[in-house]
Amino acid sequence: MADLGCSSGPNIFLIISQVIDSIHGICQQAQFQVPEIRVFLNDLPGNDFNAIFQSVPGFFERLNKAKGKMVEPCSIVGVPGSFYGRLFPTRSLHFIHSFNCLHWLSKVPAGLKDTNKGNICITKSSPGSVIKAFAKQFETDFSAFLSSRSQELMPGGQMLLLFQGRHSQNRWTDDCIFALLGQALVDLVSEELVKEADVDNFNLPLYKPWKGELYEIIEREGWFGVGRMEISEVDWVPRDKDDAEFQSGHYLSNIVRAVSEQMISRHFGDAVTDSLFIKYATNVEDHLRHQNNGKLLNFLVSLTRK
Ligand SMILES: C[S@@+](CC[C@H](N)C(=O)[O-])C[C@H]1O[C@@H](n2cnc3c(N)ncnc32)[C@H](O)[C@@H]1O
Repeated sequence: MADLGCSSGPNIFLIISQVIDSIHGICQQAQFQVPEIRVFLNDLPGNDFNAIFQSVPGFFERLNKAKGKMVEPCSIVGVPGSFYGRLFPTRSLHFIHSFNCLHWLSKVPAGLKDTNKGNICITKSSPGSVIKAFAKQFETDFSAFLSSRSQELMPGGQMLLLFQGRHSQNRWTDDCIFALLGQALVDLVSEELVKEADVDNFNLPLYKPWKGELYEIIEREGWFGVGRMEISEVDWVPRDKDDAEFQSGHYLSNIVRAVSEQMISRHFGDAVTDSLFIKYATNVEDHLRHQNNGKLLNFLVSLTRK
């Protein structure tokens, strides 16, 4: 199996455990021998693969304790590279998992200089030409993703993908975690900590597709059948975090910082990031006070290689 866009946090071992549990369960029921499992962990070359590898012995120890001595070995392999191109040998995989990744494009579309003023992602005020350019980039990237995976998966192999999307073709909201980050940058312009031109020339490589777009691309590429597509709203801040000490703004700011800091500091410089994420936390706190809680739209898609 492969986990694409695995990052270097503990979620990696959660998904591997779940897959191993399922395989063990099925094999026990059918009285099959448990197969050898090889897990390929992919992310961009800058990912902290060393941190993952250092956690592997502890993971195996926990697994062996939980399952008794494992019957067959499981090996874990790092694969640096972009999932928008080929990563694995032909027909070498049975299962591909990718969570929280595919709304990130391979790049910001070219030619957007000064066109999405005051925004760093698509919002209600973004011009049609900007939306079109992002949609085109998503189409190119998602097609390349499907084409590469179609060659790497065995016939009958499965993919489980989770990523952010939007409700309908023409519904863009400002109620987006990253739109609020754009607003925090605009606030820093008025405090003269950031240049207006720098905000106008910056876009995140982010695109949230709607259902129709996905079906169209999957059908046109033709390699995969759609098993299930589930769409669910997820609270920005988990509901159970309601003790008096808990600060929603701070909580969300840390998450958004982990995902976007590198891109932000590359464009705006390191000096601005602390002020930006403090401002962002305050803005989020204000936003949530008025909105109760923000929502993300998650698409869970299962695809089978024909
Ligand atoms: C929000 S993290 C998700 C991490 C993990 N899958 C999870 O759900 O906790 C997104 C990850 O996707 C990776 N990523 C983004 N674009 C990628 C690409 N083109 N190829 C491989 N990984 C990519 C990022 O480096 C980052 O680690």
